[in-house]
Amino acid sequence: MNDPHQVRGGRITLRGRGAECAVLEGILDAVRAGESRALVVRGEPGVGKSALLDYLVEAATDLRVVRAVGVESEMELAFAALHQLCAPMLDRLDGLPAPQREALRIVFGLSSGVAQPDRFLVGLAVLNLLSEVAEEGPLVCVVDDAQWLDQASAQTLGFVARRLWAEPVGMVFASREPCDELRGLRDLELGGLRDGDARALLSSAVQLFLDKRVCDRIVAETRGNPLALLELPRGLTQAQLAGGFGLLGAQTLSGRIEESFRRRLADLPCESQRLLLVAAAEPVGDPLLVWGAAEQLGIGVSAAVAVEKEGLLAIGERVTFRHPLVRSAVYGAASVEDRRAVHLALAEVTQSESDPDRRAWHLAAAASGPDEEVAIELERSAARAQARGGVAAAAAFLQRSVELTREPARRADRALGAAEANLRAGAFDDALRLLAAAEAGALDELQRARADLLRAQIKFTSGSPTDASLMLLSAARRLESLNVELARKTYLDAWGAAVHAGGLAAGDLISDVSRAARAAPQPTHTPQAPDLLLDGLALLITEGHAAAAPLLRRAVSAFRGGEVGIEKGLQWSSVAATAAVVLWDFESWRDIVTVQVELARDAGALGFFPLALSTQGIAATLRGDFATAASVNAEFDAVTEATSSRFPPYGSVMLAACRGREAEARALIDAAIRDATAAGQGLALQYAHLMSAILYNGLGRYHDALPAAQQATSVRPEIHVSVWALPEEIEAAARSGEARLAADGLERLAEFTNGTEADWALGVEARCRALLSKGEVAERLYGEAIDRLSRTRLRPELARAHLLYGEWLRREGRRIDARAQLRTARDMLGVIGMEAFAERARRELLATGEKVRKRTVETRDDLTSQEEQIARMAGDGLSNPEIAARLFISPRTVEWHLRKVFTKLGISSRRGLRGALPRPLGVPALRP
Ligand SMILES: Nc1ncnc2c1ncn2[C@@H]1O[C@H](COP(=O)(O)OP(=O)(O)OP(=O)(O)O)[C@@H](O)[C@H]1O
Ligand SMILES: [Mg+2]
Repeated sequence: MNDPHQVRGGRITLRGRGAECAVLEGILDAVRAGESRALVVRGEPGVGKSALLDYLVEAATDLRVVRAVGVESEMELAFAALHQLCAPMLDRLDGLPAPQREALRIVFGLSSGVAQPDRFLVGLAVLNLLSEVAEEGPLVCVVDDAQWLDQASAQTLGFVARRLWAEPVGMVFASREPCDELRGLRDLELGGLRDGDARALLSSAVQLFLDKRVCDRIVAETRGNPLALLELPRGLTQAQLAGGFGLLGAQTLSGRIEESFRRRLADLPCESQRLLLVAAAEPVGDPLLVWGAAEQLGIGVSAAVAVEKEGLLAIGERVTFRHPLVRSAVYGAASVEDRRAVHLALAEVTQSESDPDRRAWHLAAAASGPDEEVAIELERSAARAQARGGVAAAAAFLQRSVELTREPARRADRALGAAEANLRAGAFDDALRLLAAAEAGALDELQRARADLLRAQIKFTSGSPTDASLMLLSAARRLESLNVELARKTYLDAWGAAVHAGGLAAGDLISDVSRAARAAPQPTHTPQAPDLLLDGLALLITEGHAAAAPLLRRAVSAFRGGEVGIEKGLQWSSVAATAAVVLWDFESWRDIVTVQVELARDAGALGFFPLALSTQGIAATLRGDFATAASVNAEFDAVTEATSSRFPPYGSVMLAACRGREAEARALIDAAIRDATAAGQGLALQYAHLMSAILYNGLGRYHDALPAAQQATSVRPEIHVSVWALPEEIEAAARSGEARLAADGLERLAEFTNGTEADWALGVEARCRALLSKGEVAERLYGEAIDRLSRTRLRPELARAHLLYGEWLRREGRRIDARAQLRTARDMLGVIGMEAFAERARRELLATGEKVRKRTVETRDDLTSQEEQIARMAGDGLSNPEIAARLFISPRTVEWHLRKVFTKLGISSRRGLRGALPRPLGVPALRP
């Protein structure tokens, strides 16, 4: 090979592509050096993606290579491509943690587990499987025709490729179109060959001498597409070629190539054409199936001779087309009747025991009209796909079963089922289309209510909580006379959605929901925890705190004790947690959330994770345990990033506000305000204003804190965020000389503490009342606040009571007493890590005449945040696999980060971690 631009690529000699080959070689080198890489090669049909992948595989002979390929077919078989890729590695399954191993066994049909595995758990399992295999030596995964991957495989592989880090694994995909599931990965866009290379390729394909002008014209028309260059001139005479291909018409290049394949087909004997059609209709490439079906159709073995000679199809261990466009040309050219006959023959030779789903699909494709038997088969296939977590596959089966159903009521029922499956698969447009189809038929009342409910759920998942809440409300009303239990569940969901809509909802949504829920029929069974919860929350809004408290207490204690079971626990724990906060019951709140996180973790139900984790982060911050808060928040970040969730980062915003570094907190708060406004999440917006108020109160900028607090307290519904904002408003108002505002705030706060005996509520209230009092009364109230708050776990609240008391004492001129309080405040705040408040205490202390050094916060700039995170978890005793599972990385990546941490901290084992890590953010207390 003298031409420097020619390289061997698989069976062919590649022309050009020097730069692209260098990129691929770079990937192999990196993988050999122990690093991970991912790449998506993109380009139009025939441009040379598969040829480049072949080159890659050939250049990787010293590495382990596994391959998979997407297949064009209307049939969606969940995890088919993933199974292809992982099949040679399944002997390593035993090395995975049990839940991950079980998840993979279920999706590959090796075990019939009951629980549908969460797709992120599957992703984590595959990541770990690849990582395990790569322990033995670098691994390269090659996935061709990614545009045809089944959705479940595409999602999993995209997830894995994004989360590779310190493992010698390369993943290279080829795809015609950009696919959503692979977004975020590095792209290599493949264009046509350069003129010289294109001309050389053309002359190699055409045995005739072509004049330069003709060559140029053909190269221009094909835009250097190698397949077009090889295929289009076939069989043309010199005279015909001289006119070029006349591609300037409307037809696309691949349309032209397909047409050329079709012309070649037409010249084949009839039997050979039918054999090609059998192969095109059979997505697996199994020669036994193809020959079996051919035999059914009376096609003899000799039919293969012509197709193989023509180079259109190879039948070996697998049946492979010369090019994917041949398959589409063959299938597209066949008549509807011929296709049906071929699918019927394929169904007959497909085993119903070992492969019922493919059989059902072929039968469906063979059906010429409604066919109840096949529709039932498809429903069964859908149920199987569903059980394996193949929601998109289930949706496809159900959708087809709708088409085969004649009886209108059943048809509507199946359309609803298919719409539900599409919602779960995230295919909202298909879901809405099926809903419309269902509604066009004659729906009975219950079906109509189900349709409403579905529409509302689509809204909640994809749109604004306000609309969703309104729709859930109307669905619940309709359900009342049909299914009381479902109606009440729907009311509870509507209530939850209304809380999220918050002040951005038009009118008084939550009151509407609450009134309707109160008027709804009571359950026929003895009320269970969700019933108590619904009744209590509705009462809270319509009759107030005192009336609701007894019911809420019972509901909270049922959720806290875990009596509600997994499904209800996952679904409504966050609402129950809200009820606990309304009751000022910190311990129950924390326990409910802890249970919810554990449930979600055990079930691998990551959809519930963001809300549960962010509540856990808030609870840790309120306790003053900023290290735990930071670690929970990091887990939240890992989950939301891995799942592309847009759930607001409540935990991080609160931690930043309480730490009080202005620039950092401001940026997070502003982003939260923007996002919440755009998404119509009133609760998140209100919360962001509250965080602003905390930040500015810490910084002692009361004039800035006041309007922020007012924004948080002025919106309905008054559930928890507005109540938490009242003490901020009172402090800011009192310090800005707005006594009237402060007094109003106090009056409102008292409404929410009325009837409770919780020290949290009464301590904060006493502190606020003290701010507005004088003399002995004030002093007694500060004492009470400190007393009560000392009995809670809420150290930040207690520290702030010492601070306010100290500030008051100084203004009273009692310097010695003031110093004692202020020192306590400064030390506590410093240890917690509330830097702004600690600084406020320090300034006050200075003003008493005490000489104080400015303390610097001890930080470890040399550890990256992920390193610090991992080091902390390791220091807390978590194993590498446990840390890996929390942060969605492989144990190997954890190990890799830890090694760096050890070097940076100068320690040799994880035992040394606890001592070597700095105190989280706090300042060790130093007595002056
Ligand atoms: N650089 C090249 N030099 C010579 N031949 C090439 C080159 N690139 C591709 N070919 C040939 O062109 C044809 C089409 O290429 P290939 O099958 O790789 O396209 P593709 O991008 O994978 O198309 P599709 O999207 O349809 O799968 C093949 O026969 C291949 O051998
Ligand atoms: Mg290809």
